[in-house]
Amino acid sequence: MKNILITGGSGFIGANLVHRLSQLDQYKITVLDITPPRFMTFPDHVRFIKSDLRDSDKLKKIIIDDSIETIYHLAWGTIHETATRDPLGDIHENVDSSLKLFDACVNSKVTRIIYISSGGTVYGVPKQLPVNETHMTNPINAFGISKLTVEKYLQMYAHLHHIEYTIFRPSVLYGPYQNPNRRQSAVTVFTYNALTGKTIHIWGSGDIIRDFFYIDDLIDVLISALSVSECKNKIFNLSGNRAIRLNEVINTIKQILKIIPVVRYEESRLIDVKEMILDSSSARNLLNWVPKTNLDKGICLTAEWLKRYFPT
Ligand SMILES: NC(=O)c1ccc[n+]([C@@H]2O[C@H](COP(=O)([O-])OP(=O)(O)OC[C@H]3O[C@@H](n4cnc5c(N)ncnc54)[C@H](O)[C@@H]3O)[C@@H](O)[C@H]2O)c1
Repeated sequence: MKNILITGGSGFIGANLVHRLSQLDQYKITVLDITPPRFMTFPDHVRFIKSDLRDSDKLKKIIIDDSIETIYHLAWGTIHETATRDPLGDIHENVDSSLKLFDACVNSKVTRIIYISSGGTVYGVPKQLPVNETHMTNPINAFGISKLTVEKYLQMYAHLHHIEYTIFRPSVLYGPYQNPNRRQSAVTVFTYNALTGKTIHIWGSGDIIRDFFYIDDLIDVLISALSVSECKNKIFNLSGNRAIRLNEVINTIKQILKIIPVVRYEESRLIDVKEMILDSSSARNLLNWVPKTNLDKGICLTAEWLKRYFPT
C-alpha cells in the first residue's frame, strides 16, 4: 500500500484523480484542500483534511502521521487573469504554499513529488511550433512565472534532499468536475454557456489556437507516473491530439449540442499567447501515453455532466 497526499484534491483535476485512484486497492489517499469537494463526496476510505497548505505545522504533522510517500501537488489559487492582476498575492498564495509543502517533505518519508505546472504559460510566446520541453521559458503572465518558479524550487529541493520529482506541463484541460464559473477552460465554459443561453465572450477574433485535452487522459498519465521509472526527475509536456482555433471550438459545440450560442468578441488580452501547440512526444514515447478522447466525444461527456450538475 502506497501512502499518497493530494494537495488541492477537491478541485477539478484533484476530484477526477481521487475518483480514479480510490477505485484501485494499492493506495491510501489523504486529500488536503481549503475547501471540501464541490461536486462529489469522497469515498469513506479517503481521508479529507480541510486545511491551508500554508499552515506548516499542520502540514508537517499530516505528512508524518500518514507516512506520506508520494505527493501530487495540485493546490493552486489563481488563474492567468487573477495572478497577473495581483502578482504579489499570487506569490503569497501559490509560491509560498508550495515552498511550505516542499519544506515539510524534508526529513520525511516523501520520496516523490508530482507537480502540475502549465504548458500553456511557462514558455511564453513560442519561437516555433510545436513547443517541446527544451524550448526557452519566458512567461508573459504572472501565472506562468509562478508556475515556473515552483518548478525550479521543486528541482532545487529534489537535488538537495534526494526527493524525486515529476513535472507535467499540460495544455488546457476540460471535462467533468470543472467549475464553469472559474473560467479555466474555453471548452467547458463555452459548452456551459451554450447550454444555459449565456453569452460566450471571446478575447480577440477567435483565432487563438490551443490544443485542449480531456481530463481522463490526464488522469491516465498521472496514475501511470506512480509506477513508471522513466518519470523520475523529468519534465513532460502533455497535450491533445489536435490544435484548434476558438472559433472552431464554438462550431463543434454548435454541431454537437444543436444550439446556436450568442458569441461576443472582446478586445484581445496581452496575457494570452496567440498560438500554443505543445509537442508531447516525450510523454508518448517514454510513458507510452496516448490521449484517447477526441474533442467531439469530450464535449458530449462534458455536456452530459454539466446538465446533471447545473440543470437549466
Ligand atoms: N485545469 C487546467 O486546464 C490546468 C492546466 C494546466 C495546469 N493546471 C494546474 O493543475 C493544478 C490543478 O488544477 P485544477 O484545474 O484542478 O484547479 P482547481 O482550481 O479546480 O483546484 C485547485 C484546488 O486547490 C485548492 N487550493 C488553493 N490554494 C490552496 C491552499 N493554499 N491550500 C490548500 N488548498 C488550496 C483549491 O481550493 C482548489 O480545490 C493547478 O496547479 C493548476 O494550475 C490546470
